[in-house]
Amino acid sequence: MGLLNCISPRAIATSALLLTTLAQDVFARPSPEPKAAWIRKGPAKKKLANTLKRAVEGQRRATELESCAETLTTTTSAKKVNIWAPLTDVETAGVVEWLFAQEDLNLTTTEEATPWDNTITLVEALWPNKTDALAFLDGNVSTPPKYAHVVLDHRASENPYYIDIFVGPVPVTNETAWKPLAYPLTKENGGKVRNLDADSDALFTDWLYVHSESIADITLDLWNGTALGLENDTLDIWGIDPLWQDDGRIIRWDTFWSLPTDDFDAETLLPLGLFLMSDVTGRDISQWKLEGWLYNNIFYETTEDFRAAYWTEGFVKNGGNVEGDWARTDQQGPMLPLDTAYPPVTVAPAGSRFAVDAEAKYVEWMDFSFYIGFSRDTGLALYDIHYQGKRILYELSLQEALAHYAGNDPMQSGTAYLDTFYGFGPYAFELVPGYDCPAYASYLNTSFYVAETSHTHINSICLFETEADFPLQRHTTSKYVSVTKNTYFVVRSVSTVGNYDYTFSYSFFLDGSIAVEVRASGYIQSAYYANNEDYGFHINDFLSGSMHDHVLNFKVDFDILGTNNSVQLMSLVPATETYAWSKGKARNTMKLERSFIETEDDGRFNWGANSATQVLVVNENEVNKYGEYRGYRVLPYTGTSHLTVKNSSNLGNAARWAEFDVQVTKQKDTEPRSAHPFNSQDTADPPIDFSLFFDGEKVRDEDLVLWVNLGMHHVPHTGDLPNTVMTTAHSGIQLTPSNYFDYDQSRRTVNQVRIDYDNGTATDVVTFGQFDVANATCALNFAAVEPNLAGYQGDIVVRKFPFDPNNPYFETESIV
Ligand SMILES: *[C@@H]1O[C@H](CO)[C@@H](O)[C@H](O)[C@H]1NC(C)=O
Ligand SMILES: *[C@@H]1O[C@H](CO)[C@@H](O)[C@H](O)[C@H]1NC(C)=O
Ligand SMILES: *[C@@H]1O[C@H](CO)[C@@H](O)[C@H](O)[C@H]1NC(C)=O
Ligand SMILES: *[C@@H]1O[C@H](CO)[C@@H](O)[C@H](O)[C@H]1NC(C)=O
Ligand SMILES: *[C@@H]1O[C@H](CO)[C@@H](O)[C@H](O)[C@H]1NC(C)=O
Ligand SMILES: *[C@@H]1O[C@H](CO)[C@@H](O)[C@H](O)[C@H]1NC(C)=O
Ligand SMILES: *[C@@H]1O[C@H](CO)[C@@H](O)[C@H](O)[C@H]1NC(C)=O
Ligand SMILES: *[C@@H]1O[C@H](CO)[C@@H](O)[C@H](O)[C@H]1NC(C)=O
Ligand SMILES: *[C@@H]1O[C@H](CO)[C@@H](O)[C@H](O)[C@H]1NC(C)=O
Ligand SMILES: *[C@@H]1O[C@H](CO)[C@@H](O)[C@H](O)[C@H]1NC(C)=O
Ligand SMILES: *[C@@H]1O[C@H](CO)[C@@H](O)[C@H](O)[C@H]1NC(C)=O
Repeated sequence: MGLLNCISPRAIATSALLLTTLAQDVFARPSPEPKAAWIRKGPAKKKLANTLKRAVEGQRRATELESCAETLTTTTSAKKVNIWAPLTDVETAGVVEWLFAQEDLNLTTTEEATPWDNTITLVEALWPNKTDALAFLDGNVSTPPKYAHVVLDHRASENPYYIDIFVGPVPVTNETAWKPLAYPLTKENGGKVRNLDADSDALFTDWLYVHSESIADITLDLWNGTALGLENDTLDIWGIDPLWQDDGRIIRWDTFWSLPTDDFDAETLLPLGLFLMSDVTGRDISQWKLEGWLYNNIFYETTEDFRAAYWTEGFVKNGGNVEGDWARTDQQGPMLPLDTAYPPVTVAPAGSRFAVDAEAKYVEWMDFSFYIGFSRDTGLALYDIHYQGKRILYELSLQEALAHYAGNDPMQSGTAYLDTFYGFGPYAFELVPGYDCPAYASYLNTSFYVAETSHTHINSICLFETEADFPLQRHTTSKYVSVTKNTYFVVRSVSTVGNYDYTFSYSFFLDGSIAVEVRASGYIQSAYYANNEDYGFHINDFLSGSMHDHVLNFKVDFDILGTNNSVQLMSLVPATETYAWSKGKARNTMKLERSFIETEDDGRFNWGANSATQVLVVNENEVNKYGEYRGYRVLPYTGTSHLTVKNSSNLGNAARWAEFDVQVTKQKDTEPRSAHPFNSQDTADPPIDFSLFFDGEKVRDEDLVLWVNLGMHHVPHTGDLPNTVMTTAHSGIQLTPSNYFDYDQSRRTVNQVRIDYDNGTATDVVTFGQFDVANATCALNFAAVEPNLAGYQGDIVVRKFPFDPNNPYFETESIV
């Protein structure tokens, strides 16, 4: 921490002045008059006057001094190896080479593969079992053996399937072998699940475009366009996810969309209201069957029926949705007053007050430390979170995100995206400094495997400390006022899965609290308006803001002072009580009722009405000085939601985790995840049916896991155009100490003040040894606050087979 000899954190209070001064040098633009507000508000009393004088001197001196350190990252070394680290480039290349050498796997490289060849879909590190991890972290055993998690796409078959396998040990030796990765699954099928997507190319070229062409007279008449798979197409055609999987048949509904006429990603705002139903069971396209067309709520069983009706006089034609400024995100409309003046920014004048081991992805901030993991399916995850040297959480990680739509039309009614199918890792793109995260944030890279290459998202995880716009603590009396700064630490990544951008933030606070939040932005998936009045607002010419539920499942694996934990529910209940002192009279009042969750049978529940029930994770063997169980409370931070739909026709057993707000299971090495990316491929019997975790096991005084849902019920309105905004598209939970300590731990920060006053005079200003601005030896360089946006690069790709580490190239692939 060699950077502290710089302008103090307290100088943030005065940095507005300093910034103004320096900004004049950095930008040759007129700057506002230095504000007198600070001086006017500052009491003109002796002690404060001195403070002010020193501050002003500090600034004056600072402007003459060297600028503060360029680097804002302090480094540390992880205490132990990060056992959730990704495979190295060399390890991945070794595994890929080994896989191609296994004749029984019969693999073809992705580049050469046809839809009838087997390919490698994924190679990444397999997370260790918790049992082995704890033995390593807490005991004296060596690093658990390293395995690769591999997904193979087995398409050289009439019945194509995906299979999860694990390969090890890694790095490859002559002892390396593979096994089906079946233990995390509830499905009894040797790690396999059918692949409904094996003929995705032919689906377009030999099916959807063919049927689209067969009604080109109609699409041209309705929208002056065609969807034929040509460069000059002005229409697109795609449909539901997951596919309908009833009665042994695979049915899909597809619909037409206008293509945007420029680079704006507005297609999901441009539905056209014509739907096509197909039975696509099996791999023989000649056996697929067109089941009919739907237009304006009338179903036509054949193309001939539809055409005949269409060209009959009196046929009702609805308009189409076309792109316009309403669908573009660039600045438009009259400029806001004073908006071209530089807005307030946060700065970190002392450099970072946290430390990172970038290699090991290990982080320390104040009393917290943790490791960062990153996977293809779920992106960012935090492991082994310690507070004051003791583990609080073994794991805090996203499991799955669901967006379940509804509507009178089959496209909206049939859509229930399970986003890990697409993956959060591959779409965790480079962050924009100064916008996604403060310009002074530290960044980490992440990598993922695709088609014998590894892609690296540069600067895709950011780490920063920031100051809330409200204090953590305050109190005023007739003699003093005391206030504490609310400085907190954030780890953030953003995944753009198709039309939606999910911002994930994990925040750490001085009182020992942790918050998990998700905010959504990007383009909504909208519906054609006709007949959808009960399923959304009318938001543009022929557009419905299609209603949908977002539900995001997080694994919250607490280890409060060991693994023997319990979930205690404590409710405030109305009561009528007679007391020793109430002279026999009953009083209407309230009291506390406490209970424990004994088994998994009672392990699935919702947040109580009126926020009356506290969910406490406690260690019954560990009490504080007053005999109360030490623990953490889990509570909604902003709104959360579970799925409104009961027993969804789209999802079957694929997302049972979405049914309740909070779910408690016994921790098991065989139940590491609540969901699987291929659950959408077999909704009746998915790889992981979360409801099967609940088999009556004891969860009291056990190692337990809470599976908690974030989410929101989203009924987009005109304010969601062109993009949803994060003011309300926001959900979170907090994990906060409950009797864990004997008093509030934020008292330990020096970044608080007590001002004593008497008869209009501040008599003492106590700053507890916090950094004194007068001691600043360097100046704040405003240029460092202004991010270098021209440095944005996109993803870097390195070929793994054949391994070609020295010729990386740039390529960024989004879903749309
Ligand atoms: C191996 O895969 C090829 C296609 O890449 C296929 O033609 C062949 O039948 C497969 N061999 C075995 C033994 O399954
Ligand atoms: C994890 O535990 C399961 C169940 O005991 C076991 O089958 C599996 O091999 C273990 N996985 C690893 C990577 O050690
Ligand atoms: C840990 O094990 C090593 C050998 O594997 C031994 O030298 C060391 O003394 C052990 N430490 C403790 C604390 O048991
Ligand atoms: C693996 O290689 C080592 C030497 O590198 C050798 O001693 C051992 O016998 C080999 N094992 C097998 C199963 O081939
Ligand atoms: C129809 O589309 C074609 C090419 O896509 C365009 O040249 C023509 O102007 C359009 N006609 C109308 C009436 O918009
Ligand atoms: C679109 O491209 C195809 C093939 O290049 C061409 O035949 C057709 O005339 C084009 N259509 C329009 C409307 O330009
Ligand atoms: C991220 O990757 C870039 C490009 O390879 C590299 O320059 C940078 O040092 C990496 N960042 C970290 C924190 O490892
Ligand atoms: C944890 O609970 C188990 C039984 O549920 C008990 O056998 C064990 O002794 C407990 N461990 C501690 C540290 O209390
Ligand atoms: C869910 O719906 C399906 C199909 O209607 C039905 O077979 C099944 O029993 C239902 N399951 C539950 C748990 O309600
Ligand atoms: C309060 O301060 C004023 C002058 O600012 C003085 O006249 C007055 O006597 C003081 N009152 C007390 C109670 O000290
Ligand atoms: C500031 O500098 C003074 C004089 O060198 C020193 O006494 C004081 O301890 C310093 N304060 C801090 C917080 O470093």
